[in-house]
Order: sequence, then structure tokens, then C-alpha cells
Amino acid sequence: MSEAFTLLRDEALVCTRCRLANTRTQVVFGVGDPNADLMFVGEAPGFNEDRQGEPFVGAAGQLLTRLLGEIGMAREDVYIANVLKCRPPNNRDPQQDEIDSCKDYLRRQIVLIDPRVVVTLGNFATKLLLRTETGITRLRGKVYPWWRGKQLIATFHPAAALRSADLVTEMQRDFALIRTTLEQPPAPPPSTVPVKEDPEQMSLFA
Ligand code: URA
Repeated sequence: MSEAFTLLRDEALVCTRCRLANTRTQVVFGVGDPNADLMFVGEAPGFNEDRQGEPFVGAAGQLLTRLLGEIGMAREDVYIANVLKCRPPNNRDPQQDEIDSCKDYLRRQIVLIDPRVVVTLGNFATKLLLRTETGITRLRGKVYPWWRGKQLIATFHPAAALRSADLVTEMQRDFALIRTTLEQPPAPPPSTVPVKEDPEQMSLFA
């Protein structure tokens, strides 16, 4: 793990930027390979994650692990994080000011991990990273060209799929797409000619 990544994690672990610091058991920063090609972004820690300090360890996490296994990958091969690093009380929806306080940690995680493919799980992550109000049902199952040459794939949140076998089938299709996208050759290195920064990209998550 790079020093910069360790410093970022240490900073996040003592964060008091929002009210969730008062009710969390601990900060759930993220887990997995900090050099992964594939990064998942969920919504927020739930009861089990808050207790164990690791994202996606409950029932939704077991489904995520199963879907990964079906495309020949393990949790250790990827990086898993959430939009919010702290559990909202009673698993209520994240509030906008909490997302605004927390999104800088996610942005810096993405910069340092530098994955080729980012997968958003559910509406909150998808709306934040694609900067859209469109719902996940319309956005899922496609590959979006994204920030710094990365590709973004949106899919359902595994907790929603726990309630619907049809959604599990759709997620299996999306995971097959993740696999084929990763199998494509990496994009060529950026041009050495300085390119003017795109203001859209500079205001990532704005
Ligand atoms: N749901 C999420 O979005 N993230 C977790 O870590 C667990 C459940």
C-alpha cells in the first residue's frame, strides 16, 4: 500500500466532518487491493459493516462475493468502497450534506487506486459518479467512458437483488459485461502532449 493511501486511510479513520461520526462504531474506509483494475462503489456501511469495519460483509456482501466468483474473481482481486464511510443510523438513506462531506475521500481513493473500471452499485453511487438524476434501471448494463480514461459500469445494489431473483439475473449480465470490459486491452497511455484540463472533469463529483 502506498504511503499516500495509508495517509488517506488514517485521515478518514478519525473523520468528524459530519454528524455520522457521532453514531458510527467505526469508519469503514474500504477493502481489497489498492492497485486493483476494478473498483466497486456501494452506498454506505450497514449494521455488520459498522461492527466489522469492512464494506459488504453482510448478506448483500455475500451476494457481491458470489457474483464476483461467477466471473472468476475474488474480493481480494478488487477494491470495494462506499459513497459514505460511516453508517447512517438505522440504515436510513445518505443525506446530501453527508455525501458532500464524504465524497472527497472517495475521489482521493479513486485517484490513488487508479482502477481501469469503476462499478457503481445502486442509485446513490451511480448518481454521484455519473452526475445524473436518472435512475439505475435505465443506466445499468452499459459501459460509460468516464474520468481520466476510466470506464464506469452501473449495476443494481446487491441488497435490492436480495429481494428479486430477476435482479440477480440482470446483475449476472452486468458482471459478465464487467469481465469482458476488463479483458479488453487497456487504453493507450495518455498523450505526452499537454492537454488542457476539461473543467467538467476537474469538478468531479461536484
Ligand atoms: N451496502 C452498501 O452499500 N455498502 C456496504 O458496505 C454494505 C451494504
